[in-house]
Amino acid sequence: MKISVVTKAVEKLTDSALLIPVFENPRRLSSTYRNLPKTLIDATETVFASGDFTGKVGQTQLVYVPGESPYPRVLLVGLGERRKYTMDTVRRTLGTAVQIAAKKKIGGLTVSPVTAGRVDAGTFAQAAAEGAILGDFQYADFLTNEDEIRFHVKGLTIAVSDRSKSRRVEKGVERGRTVAEVVNTSRWLVMTPGNDLYPETLAKETVKLAKTCGVKTTVLNPDQIKKLKMGGVWSVGKGSSRPPRFIIMEYRGNRRKKGIDVCLVGKGVTFDTGGISIKPNARMTEMIGDMMGSATVIAATIGVARLKLPINLVTIVPTVENMPSGAAYRPGDIVTTMSGQTVEIISTDAEGRLILADGLTYADRYQPKALIDVATLTGAAEIALGDQTAALLSNDPGLVKKFKHAAEATAERVWELPMFEEYAEQIKSDVADMKNSGGRLGGTITAAWFLRKYVGENKWAHLDIAAMDWETKGKPYIPKGCTGYGVRLLIQLLTDWK
Ligand code: BES
Ligand code: MN
Ligand code: ZN
Repeated sequence: MKISVVTKAVEKLTDSALLIPVFENPRRLSSTYRNLPKTLIDATETVFASGDFTGKVGQTQLVYVPGESPYPRVLLVGLGERRKYTMDTVRRTLGTAVQIAAKKKIGGLTVSPVTAGRVDAGTFAQAAAEGAILGDFQYADFLTNEDEIRFHVKGLTIAVSDRSKSRRVEKGVERGRTVAEVVNTSRWLVMTPGNDLYPETLAKETVKLAKTCGVKTTVLNPDQIKKLKMGGVWSVGKGSSRPPRFIIMEYRGNRRKKGIDVCLVGKGVTFDTGGISIKPNARMTEMIGDMMGSATVIAATIGVARLKLPINLVTIVPTVENMPSGAAYRPGDIVTTMSGQTVEIISTDAEGRLILADGLTYADRYQPKALIDVATLTGAAEIALGDQTAALLSNDPGLVKKFKHAAEATAERVWELPMFEEYAEQIKSDVADMKNSGGRLGGTITAAWFLRKYVGENKWAHLDIAAMDWETKGKPYIPKGCTGYGVRLLIQLLTDWK
């Protein structure tokens, strides 16, 4: 989708449709639209007068304009109450608009920024670009029937009447476009099925992406993984005919500073059968998304590099396929992780924490100011918080605060779960330093405690996104499929980094 910014009044332009976002209970069109043909104004205000369209949030109405008009259609989208208007209202509005445009095969949309409350023209533009590009996503790599392939809106035009604002609007579009594109990259990686995406190909895709934006990538092969004594990665990965990889991405946005600001670690289980502790058949297909933590950190890193953020970032992805086989690790095995700590395997399905353990140990080498891991780690996260909020666990209140701030700005929600010492009892083992499962109670918390044994003195936060992977119904800017959750959140966090 081409997004262009023009400094012209809407009546000086022409397009397949004019998108008019409206607050609740509209009576007349605002001054922005007063110079449009009377037919367009009358047709729209007739709809307002009818009471059929009340401007409730997300409500839509397509209006056809009779006779000559620069816009044969007006697409009304409700913004809801003015006092509740935020950037996310704009994302949803544009998401909804592109969905309708796709259905009606409307080739282009023109919109004029709606500024109110804390949304200025620049933030409107950013959110509009995000909503439009995110809402337009479809995973179509394997659709062979043309009719099933989505119609994509070709152009979105943002019309600004005031030249003084156009620079900020352009910047907003640029940022929104970059952010949304990398979210879609993450969605694409997650939705690529296990027969196409496995450790080797995930590493290849990462290298390919990193090359386009000056991120240095190193991929460790199975021999190197064994040599480094990454017992966690190796144990989980050895049951598969597709051996593990260990990916390291390095981005230096601030060359005057020596140290690393943030280290990201992402769980890259390209398919999780559960291994010998095999999962039930129901919903196992969803486990193609068990590398979403890795997709999130990879995409965020690419985003940070494209935006040229002034920080130093290292991103680490241990990636494996968790399979049952004659070569697979077993319940009862005792595994020595890279840190030297030993783990009694209770369930081969608690594999994520084992590979993250080695990822966190490796990350410690960089002495980052903050260590952040992202993982589809526990089904218990879904039970604790449902599927609207990711679980956040940390050893540092300052880092939690940063996350909450970024969550507010991006509408990607997080909620902190406690890490009281008593929970750590559940992962004590009689025969090793710890067990890889703490049982059913507080599963998200005991998993986080397991990880905490590997973070050393680092300031650390763990984001469990197990509940956030798939959207089943479809939302305005989150079509059915992988949500892409977390990428915008991390980029925001790293944008505000101090
Ligand atoms: N990948 C799963 C967690 C998961 C479940 C992600 C549902 C997305 C949706 C993880 O590897 C797992 O199997 N966790 C176990 C841990 C248990 C064996 C301690 C779980 O949550 O049941
Ligand atoms: Mn598992
Ligand atoms: Zn898993």
